[in-house]
Amino acid sequence: MTAAALSRTAAGPALISMDIGHDAYAAVTDPNTAFWALVDKNRVDEALADGPLFDRYREKADTFARELHALRFGLKPSGVYLNPTERCNLNCTYCYLPDTQRSGGSHMPTEMLLASLGQLRDYFRSVMPEGRKPRAIFHGAEPLMNKTAVFAAINEFADDFTFGLQTNGTLLDAAAVEFLTARNVSIGLSLDGPVAGITDATRRTWGGKSVHGKVLAAMDKLKGYGSWSVITTCTTENLPFLTQMVELFHAREVPTCMLNAVRCTLPGARDVKPADGDMAQAFTQALDRTHELYRETGRKLLVANFANILIAILAPTARRLMCDISPCGGGRAFFALAADGNLYPCSEFIGLPRFNGGNLLATGGVEAALASAAFRPVIERDVDKFAPCADCAIRHFCGSPCPAEAHEMNGGMGMIGAFCEFYKEQVSYALRLIADGKANDYLWDGWDEDTETTFDLGC
Ligand SMILES: C[S@@+](CC[C@H](N)C(=O)[O-])C[C@H]1O[C@@H](n2cnc3c(N)ncnc32)[C@H](O)[C@@H]1O
Repeated sequence: MTAAALSRTAAGPALISMDIGHDAYAAVTDPNTAFWALVDKNRVDEALADGPLFDRYREKADTFARELHALRFGLKPSGVYLNPTERCNLNCTYCYLPDTQRSGGSHMPTEMLLASLGQLRDYFRSVMPEGRKPRAIFHGAEPLMNKTAVFAAINEFADDFTFGLQTNGTLLDAAAVEFLTARNVSIGLSLDGPVAGITDATRRTWGGKSVHGKVLAAMDKLKGYGSWSVITTCTTENLPFLTQMVELFHAREVPTCMLNAVRCTLPGARDVKPADGDMAQAFTQALDRTHELYRETGRKLLVANFANILIAILAPTARRLMCDISPCGGGRAFFALAADGNLYPCSEFIGLPRFNGGNLLATGGVEAALASAAFRPVIERDVDKFAPCADCAIRHFCGSPCPAEAHEMNGGMGMIGAFCEFYKEQVSYALRLIADGKANDYLWDGWDEDTETTFDLGC
């Protein structure tokens, strides 16, 4: 994708053109407001000159700017990632949680988890509209290693939170599935390969044993349940197999998956970081395959992290994940509770003590953490303020993720994350789908029911 700035000297909105690699269409966009339109590739100059498109955009530009500003700076937290234990029975090579904690760390005692959820419920009530429940996701290290506490919390706070649980699947027995599905808890699994040899390259026990078969067995147990998903973390080890990965997910009736590029916050992850071009190629081939499978069977396999980019383009305020916006959701739309009771902007920061915003159960709790010097650099990381993002046409569809990665891998909050070019390719691919009228095929049904068209050129 290339973006060419075109001059617009008068104060006010400015449009630039973007080659999206489509035969017939180019995009014109105002990166400041995330406005875009697709235009005839051979008539870009006309579209950028004073004329109907520009006039109509000028009328709406302030509204777009206000909406984007509210999304970027006006949100209150509505979710929490809960780490009920530091421990994990797996030693994934790229994990962002420190290995000393995962191997020898502590569980959060049941009483402390219950007290924490009580405190969190009160906090969310004070900032969320009445009738809306906050989301609480049990997320790390392996929540089912502290199942007693987790299940006690889900029972006790069923009316106060919408719960989710992310697990490696190895401890998800029939009783656990029954407990969680009966309470409508959304369940996420993790699997990195279509066959054991690939999964084992990155996800295995501390003793080096394969868990691939156990995750497939967990997937079988969840077949037919409405609210489950599987994460594949994309690395050099599985990149050539992403297409087989989505074939496996589709065959096993996984409703939603995520094909997440490995976050390079800790050094172990950087050893398996794919090059941007390789990541983009494998990822878009896998997306193409999901579309073929949809066409063949009428059943969608959603790739949620890509769907979120599409939504960021089509209806910015309907985004569901908050990694691809700047400032990101960490410490703003959500935060994380570590197993020792300390608060971090996001789980990604749990291995980085300088981002510890203080203890939830201490005086000040969540409010103090949100205002803390530990959270502020994350909350204030703004793509409008650092190069090369400040001049990038897609900065408000990408958000330059992730601050933890930028800080640890590239040396500061004012740096880009690990996959700049990959994001540009994703946005171009998304715009090509829109140009071809295929975007709905990559989104959950009814995604646009709660959204409103604010700009429709009607052509
Ligand atoms: C940290 S684990 C915790 C929950 C559970 N133990 C599991 O495996 O799903 C949550 C997810 O984060 C992914 N993950 C861990 N480190 C990562 C990294 N550096 N980059 C991207 N994803 C990562 C894991 O593969 C897993 O899918």
